[in-house]
This record gives sequence, C-alpha cells and structure tokens, in this order.
Amino acid sequence: MEIKCDRLRINYGGNAVINELSAAFPSRAVNIVIGSSGSGKSALLRTIAALNDPTDGTIYYDSKPHCELQSRFIRSKIGMIFQRPTLFEGTVYNNLTFGLEQQNMRIDDKEIELTLKRVGIPTSYLSKKGNELSIGEQQRICIVRSLLPRPIYFSLTNRPQP
Ligand SMILES: Nc1ncnc2c1ncn2[C@@H]1O[C@H](COP(=O)(O)OP(=O)(O)OP(=O)(O)O)[C@@H](O)[C@H]1O
Ligand SMILES: [Mg+2]
Repeated sequence: MEIKCDRLRINYGGNAVINELSAAFPSRAVNIVIGSSGSGKSALLRTIAALNDPTDGTIYYDSKPHCELQSRFIRSKIGMIFQRPTLFEGTVYNNLTFGLEQQNMRIDDKEIELTLKRVGIPTSYLSKKGNELSIGEQQRICIVRSLLPRPIYFSLTNRPQP
C-alpha cells in the first residue's frame, strides 16, 4: 500500500507539530523518518495509522483519501509497534490472539509458534504473563502481535538514537 501525505498538518494542544508536510512512502520500501526528540515523528506515524485525525491536509492510501476510508479499516491494514511496549494483563497467548478475535480472524497456533520463532521467543512463553518478560522480550511480542493479522503496511515507530 502506498501512502502519501499532502500538505498534512497535525496540531497537538493548539501547537502545529507537523506543518504542511507533503511526502510519499512507497510500498515495499523501508521508509525512515528521522528527527530530533519532540519533532513530531510519533505524531506523524499515529496519524498515518488513523490513531489521530489530521488537523488539515490529506493522507492517501493507494490514492484513496483518508476521508473516504473508515479509521477501523486503515488501522486493520497497519501494524504498529510503539516506542514503549504495551502488553495488557493476561498471558502472552491472550495478547497475541485478542486483536485477531476482534477482527474475526482465525490464525492457527502453528502460525503463532512460527512467528514467535522468527523473533527468537520460545513457545513456552505463550503461557507467561506480560509482566514476567523483559522489555526487549515484550517488544518482540509486540512485533509478533503486529505481524499476525498480516498487515499490508508495517510500521515500526522511532527508537532513540544511541
Ligand atoms: N498528547 C499530546 N498532547 C499535546 N502535545 C503532545 C502530545 N503528545 C506529544 N505532544 C507534543 O507534540 C510534539 C511531538 O511529539 P512526538 O511524540 O510526535 O515527538 P517525537 O518526534 O516522536 O519525539 P521522540 O523522538 O522523543 O519520540 C512534542 O513537542 C510533544 O511535547
Ligand atoms: Mg516518538
């Protein structure tokens, strides 16, 4: 899915965080957004993922403007991993399957196990609680959770510079 922003403006608390941004993010490419802390990278990604509304301007998803698409639809096509891993209470398995159930998607346990393997997490972790995991392990569970619904556009949010 190709994503284009046309004169995008995002205001947070009355301040313009993104001002008249026009940019294209081609499909099947790795797009990197670089900027200093507080410059609006997360605001941009959250808005593209339809978690915030743009204040002005248009975001096109495969040439369709955001106003013609349902936020729910956009969110289902975009996998997001946030800077801070967020697992809810319950087991790793509950965390991985909750979103799929919400979208009425059936993914068999074999695929869950294979995806865990891809990020180096043993299957035995499925019965662990989220708060029993290290931050890095939680982050990897969040990656698996984003991959399982097979998003078209996969977004990794920014990570701090070393
Ligand atoms: N919910 C909010 N309400 C009001 N202002 C906010 C909110 N979230 C972020 N901001 C402000 O908006 C600006 C952009 O924040 P954003 O989180 O997009 O920055 P960032 O580029 O992702 O920074 P970092 O590299 O530190 O993650 C910052 O000045 C921040 O203080
Ligand atoms: Mg950020």
